[in-house]
Amino acid sequence: MKFGHFDDSRKEYVINTPKTPYPWINYLGNQGFFSLISNTAGGYSFYKDARLRRITRYRYNNVPLDMGGRYFYINDNGTVWNPGWSPVKTELDEYECRHGMGYTIIEGKKNGLKAEVTFFVPQDYDGEVQQVVLTNESSEAKEFALFSMAEWCLWDAQDDCTNFQRNFSTGRVEIEGSTIYHVTEYRDRRNHYAFYTVNDQIDGYDTDRDAFLGSIYNGWDNPETVKAGKASNSFADGWSPIASHYKKITLAPGESKTLIYILGYAENPQDKKFASEKPADLLTREAWVLNKEKAYAMIDKYNTPEKVAAGLEELRTTWENLLSIYKVDTPDDKVNRMVNIWNQYQCMVTFNLSRSASYFESGIGRGMGFRDSNQDILGFVHQIPDRARARLIDIASTQLSDGGCYHQYQPLTKKGNADIGGDFSDDPLWMIMSVAAYIKETGDWGILDANVPFDDDPEGKHTMLEHLNVSFYHIVNNLGPHGLPLAMRADWNDCINLSCFSDTPGESFQTYTNPKFKAEGGYSKIAESVFVAALFTYTGPAYVGILEHLGKTEEAAKAQAEIDKMKKNTMESAFDGEWFLRAYDANGEKMGSHECEEGKIFIEPQGFAVMSEIGKDVGADIKTLDSIDKYLNCEYGLVLNNPAFTKYYIQYGEISTYPGGYKENAGIFTHNNAWIICAEAYVGRGEKAFEYYSKIAPAFTEETSDIHKTEPYVYGQMIGGKDAKNFGQGKNSWLTGTAAWNMVAISQYILGIKPEFDGLRVDPSIPSAWDGFKVVRKFRGDTYEIEIKNPDHICKGVKKLTVDGNEIEGCIVPVAGDGNTHKVEVLLG
Ligand code: BGC
Ligand code: NOJ
Repeated sequence: MKFGHFDDSRKEYVINTPKTPYPWINYLGNQGFFSLISNTAGGYSFYKDARLRRITRYRYNNVPLDMGGRYFYINDNGTVWNPGWSPVKTELDEYECRHGMGYTIIEGKKNGLKAEVTFFVPQDYDGEVQQVVLTNESSEAKEFALFSMAEWCLWDAQDDCTNFQRNFSTGRVEIEGSTIYHVTEYRDRRNHYAFYTVNDQIDGYDTDRDAFLGSIYNGWDNPETVKAGKASNSFADGWSPIASHYKKITLAPGESKTLIYILGYAENPQDKKFASEKPADLLTREAWVLNKEKAYAMIDKYNTPEKVAAGLEELRTTWENLLSIYKVDTPDDKVNRMVNIWNQYQCMVTFNLSRSASYFESGIGRGMGFRDSNQDILGFVHQIPDRARARLIDIASTQLSDGGCYHQYQPLTKKGNADIGGDFSDDPLWMIMSVAAYIKETGDWGILDANVPFDDDPEGKHTMLEHLNVSFYHIVNNLGPHGLPLAMRADWNDCINLSCFSDTPGESFQTYTNPKFKAEGGYSKIAESVFVAALFTYTGPAYVGILEHLGKTEEAAKAQAEIDKMKKNTMESAFDGEWFLRAYDANGEKMGSHECEEGKIFIEPQGFAVMSEIGKDVGADIKTLDSIDKYLNCEYGLVLNNPAFTKYYIQYGEISTYPGGYKENAGIFTHNNAWIICAEAYVGRGEKAFEYYSKIAPAFTEETSDIHKTEPYVYGQMIGGKDAKNFGQGKNSWLTGTAAWNMVAISQYILGIKPEFDGLRVDPSIPSAWDGFKVVRKFRGDTYEIEIKNPDHICKGVKKLTVDGNEIEGCIVPVAGDGNTHKVEVLLG
């Protein structure tokens, strides 16, 4: 069952009922100011850091769900309703929500009155613009009241929802004309403020939540002021400050009125925090007055429908340009819509926000993840390489000089997060992968010389190349008894915690280490990760390639020898006969072997082992892929492990705490499904690659949205696996490495357009039924118009490749570098 449809021409998903199986959200903003907005206008805003600089309040896991947002209320002759249905939930005569690229349009209609609200964050602007267009479509004149409403968060979202003894007394506002300012804690240590304004005179306001609601026992669905059709002009003093504008409106039949609201954020320099004069009409309880110059300028920027239209047009052009870098025309509409629109859009969101703020991530739990952000770059780097470069330098600067990494950092401070610490065995390798991806995309070898400090040597002169070197050798220098990388606290799978042995509720599996291993330096020196071994052999060659390019032949050979040794060790000690083991635990026992009672086979190491060609000469690659098909494949994707764990294995950690079929315990983790898609494409089995791709790609799940539950336009982290009661049900949508990896899987492996150090590889691995497809790829300043023909209906194999009519050897299109458009013709066969 569907709850809407794709409108590809407008790059929108159109939702036709507010009662979606879960709030279906969108993200506004892509630099400093961000908003989450659901299809009923729930959500919240923040500046850069969802934890430390939260602007509006939201209540996660509330009853009912999705309470808190920016709400418009209409009281039309006693009928109170919201254009987005919630929170009053009066049945609407018509409803539609269009989630587009950086904007959302919600339209509601009741008793002949139509309200269309467009929400967006303009480019280079720290505020959310909300344009409300009211149209009287009835044959009678209408007189009604319109109320806006946003609830302020007192900046630190963690403190805001826990430290009530303090923060019920700190809330502060100022009101000037139609603008309500949120100046909580501004007098003392903060230099930032927020405001909510409307471009018209108002007939009243409320800034105190309880006054707006009329009773502390009322909810957002039942505000007294709205029901009474009149604001109470309350002035907040502590408790919970809000911003609500009240406006009386009369519309003749057919008449429309447009109002523009702005929810903005601004910072003042320390010496310009306060205004020297107090305007006569200013309402404040303070002796000091906020310097509002920045807010005035921001308000001026979008205070007419013409300016709003220009802002929307600028946003549209920005996305048009971003999405013109990789564009496909395949025989499958769903592939086209994922690749050309939604997957790339999601990659921008994950690049911006890592795993911090979604409807499943509270924004206070995590900052930016080291491994997460590095992987996010893989799907984003072609869009805005300069931003990827800056991010790479930020991430690398949190690394330690021995190659170890802080697992997370806060975007506002850019400092490693000491609470979580390091010792996640895979982290350093993602840094090599993302820097290599950046160079392959841009040809900017200069990044290797960029000055990038280490966290433990902030003043030292170090280069990015040194970071890659210590990353590589951090693996090599930390091997276990089988010559495989030590597993440490966890590898990519945060829930395989082989040094934890936790028996006490509440201990974090990621940060708690058993005292026995703490004494040994933080983690077991026996437990080894086969996943990290395979990731090393897959990623290592990029490091070797970099060294070779720099003419460091000896170093390159030395690194290559380590890769070869790792491959040998993996084949000798970690091939189980039909697939690769997952790990050796701290007791030296095999994990992920046919000898195990449960968890006999795991997905994670397999794809990278296959693509590293470990044991290819003895058929290990195909055997492994066949085993995945046999044991992990099910209707909705590939489960992470099989059989699911049915009891707690203290030696494995968090993975065995999840009921079977959920999360890391045999859930369908879409992130690592992509690695198998890549591997199937790599070995030339385009059919299988596409089968796995289409099982999890959101556009393909649209028809079963009632089962899938989360948004049909973006990936979620997990789909309930075959052992779960809720088989096929998606969770944790939006912020997941799945976005980047599936972009890589479809664009570089299936469609086969893959940047390399020395050019653009064109080597598709597609369903044989396809006659071919076309791609436009902008690459290093040139545009390549690529046409692939598949007359023999094969999956993989380039028979002939011409560039501007000239045949070339192999399948790597050399960089032309002349800024022109080049025609690439590829014949499969
Ligand atoms: C989740 C993982 C996540 C980790 C983060 C675990 O509870 O299952 O998916 O990466 O928390 O710390
Ligand atoms: C989610 C985390 O963000 C990611 O870093 C991790 O690799 C996966 N969960 C698997 O545990």
